[in-house]
Amino acid sequence: MRWVFLGLGLVTAGVVSWMGRRGELHEGRPWVFITDMAFEPRYDAQAAGPFFSDDRVMRAPPAGTVPFGGADYESDAGSPRQNPDFLREDDRYYRGKEGPNWVTQNPVKLDIVLLRRGRERFNIYCSPCHGATGVGNGIMTQYGMVGVASITDDLHRLMSDGEYFNVITNGKGRMMPYAPQIKVRDRWAIVAYIRALMRSESATLPDVPESQRGKVTP
Ligand code: HEC
Repeated sequence: MRWVFLGLGLVTAGVVSWMGRRGELHEGRPWVFITDMAFEPRYDAQAAGPFFSDDRVMRAPPAGTVPFGGADYESDAGSPRQNPDFLREDDRYYRGKEGPNWVTQNPVKLDIVLLRRGRERFNIYCSPCHGATGVGNGIMTQYGMVGVASITDDLHRLMSDGEYFNVITNGKGRMMPYAPQIKVRDRWAIVAYIRALMRSESATLPDVPESQRGKVTP
């Protein structure tokens, strides 16, 4: 009986090691008994194919092709191109960059509507971690979120608008990117509002309109 078990063990080990060869690239088709059109002929992107005379599967658009899509209006950055938002070519607006440098000035025209929008978006998306004033004491910090940066301290004051835009867009360190949730224009609105927060935190009496100064307690 012992030999039967031993033999069975050896056979099992053999079968398992033969079938479970991991890490090897198998070029052939897997065994599929009901194929359900799983193996239709097709061309992959960038592949070669015999159909066209130049053997390329992907075709170049005819000369002079104009991309279609987007609305026919100027982008916020005032780009004179038509459909600027379709190609997202405007580096200043879409990436916060001017050549290799961050833009120093918000490309969106600042007004009170934009600031209000920025305040609203900031309170939704940023204040849970960074706190309503941006010092890094949001509610999440009471639930284990550590290392949240203050975004209005002296160091971060030096960051340019484009850099702020980039942190929101792509995240930084342990902060996630917010590009999927926050639209481009809203990101700029948030940047504008952060500047307002910074200003408010180091405001002096002359910043307050004269009619309101009586109400301020120093
Ligand atoms: C889930 C928490 C969380 C949220 C929400 C959040 N942040 Fe952050 N943020 C962090 C953390 C953590 C850091 C520190 C990242 C690091 O240094 O690893 C950080 C860092 C930053 C910095 C500093 C980057 C630097 O270079 O020092 C800026 C600016 C910033 N956040 C802006 C924002 C803005 C604007 C929003 C809202 C759109 C936002 N954050 C939302 C967690 C968050």
